[in-house]
Amino acid sequence: MTLNTISGRFALLTIAFVVLAELLILVPSVTNYRRDYLETRLERAQIASLALLATDESIAADLESELLENAGVYNVVLRRNDVRQLVLSSPLPQPISATYDLRETTYGDSVRQTLRDLIHDKAEVIRVIGQPVRQAGQLIEITMNTAPMREEMIEFAVRMLALSAAFSVLTALLLNLATQRLIVGPIRRVIGHMTAYAASPGDMRTIITPSARMGEVRAAETALAEMQRTVTASLKQRERLAQLGQAVAKISHDLRNVLATGQILADRLESSADPAVRRAAPKLVGAISRAVNLCETTLAFGKAEEPQPTLSIFNLAPLVAEVVEAESLAAEAAGDGGAVDFVIDMPAGLRIRADREQLYRVLSNLARNARQAIAATRRPGTIEMSGAEDETHWCIRVGDTGPGLPQKARDHLFEPFTGGIRKGGTGLGLAIAADLVRGHGGSLDLVRSDDAGTEFLICLPRDICPF
Ligand SMILES: Nc1ncnc2c1ncn2[C@@H]1O[C@H](COP(=O)(O)OP(=O)(O)O)[C@@H](O)[C@H]1O
Ligand SMILES: [Mg+2]
Repeated sequence: MTLNTISGRFALLTIAFVVLAELLILVPSVTNYRRDYLETRLERAQIASLALLATDESIAADLESELLENAGVYNVVLRRNDVRQLVLSSPLPQPISATYDLRETTYGDSVRQTLRDLIHDKAEVIRVIGQPVRQAGQLIEITMNTAPMREEMIEFAVRMLALSAAFSVLTALLLNLATQRLIVGPIRRVIGHMTAYAASPGDMRTIITPSARMGEVRAAETALAEMQRTVTASLKQRERLAQLGQAVAKISHDLRNVLATGQILADRLESSADPAVRRAAPKLVGAISRAVNLCETTLAFGKAEEPQPTLSIFNLAPLVAEVVEAESLAAEAAGDGGAVDFVIDMPAGLRIRADREQLYRVLSNLARNARQAIAATRRPGTIEMSGAEDETHWCIRVGDTGPGLPQKARDHLFEPFTGGIRKGGTGLGLAIAADLVRGHGGSLDLVRSDDAGTEFLICLPRDICPF
């Protein structure tokens, strides 16, 4: 039983509290003991003196000293009918050092006198005055030695302390047994399950079955079981996803090589003598390069985390202009040029701190999605990009007048592979963009998406932590 265990501490606290309680009641107990002692002396002296008074004759000196010895006093004075009678007397060994009148002694006085008697370890002669029992007189007065009383008081106190020590040790032992059984045992069981589970988290057998009867421990067991089930399930899912990811990466890698060969061959078709083949060639090249692009994006995503952003301070407007230019060119190439209008609202001097390359990828992903969404409607549309800053953030809005996000994309917003419905898309663009913004300590949010269009908001904190 060490002191760093629950049961050890309980035992120690029990001993400490019992001893404290005993100390608190020790002084009143010894006080009562002393008072009883004095009253008994008075009573015994009274009996001795009454016996003598009954004979109404002077008695032999040795009988007198025997009576006094039996009563444990030197002198007895009994006052009856206002007559003060020194009934029994023997020589005092020393002068009287104090007089205690029990008829007028308050409880506080008693406590003080007790402490005084205990501390004074010299024998003293005291006078004690009290009321005779059974109306045998008006007053009884004795002189006595304090030494035997003091001895008995100390003996009584030691007996009490010894008893309380035995008492507290016994209580501590019992409490120790009880805590071992009721608290420590169930807690050890929970800890045992945790350790076993930590050793093999995939093993369903190590999941705890709640069985404790004590409410709190049972709640802990239930919460642990719930957590273990969730962790095991997500571990399994992670494992499966990792395996799947590896397979996809391998397939993408090999597929890209195969497609590269196809691309070279398709390029040659452009110089074919057959005009029909020549016309089909660009479309074939386009389709193959989209497939290559898909493989590359998947491979890039599979490389897990994006690198940490390399921060620099730059002007936002030129970066946005680059994105717009690239998207306008892509729109022209895709054949829907002119249908999309860019409206840019960037304060000329707006400088921000970010990874320029990564922010370019974020903006171009959002702009491309918007352009593709508008193009799919075959109606003209507008893409708006605006920037602003406040004391804590730089914010960039990317809005469009497209058809809004399809339900599937909204349900799986920012989740890789799941949200995309576009033919030739990977469903990775928004997930990557959100990842990159998060890497800056910022946020990418969908502000609005309905029939009238879609709006995303990028917010980058100004006090970027310096990684
Ligand atoms: N501005 C937008 N307007 C309408 N739909 C959008 C917009 N941005 C994204 N989407 C939808 O969200 C899906 C997921 O986009 P993204 O993650 O970039 O993947 P991908 O573009 O490869 O399909 C897209 O397929 C598209 O349906
Ligand atoms: Mg996209």
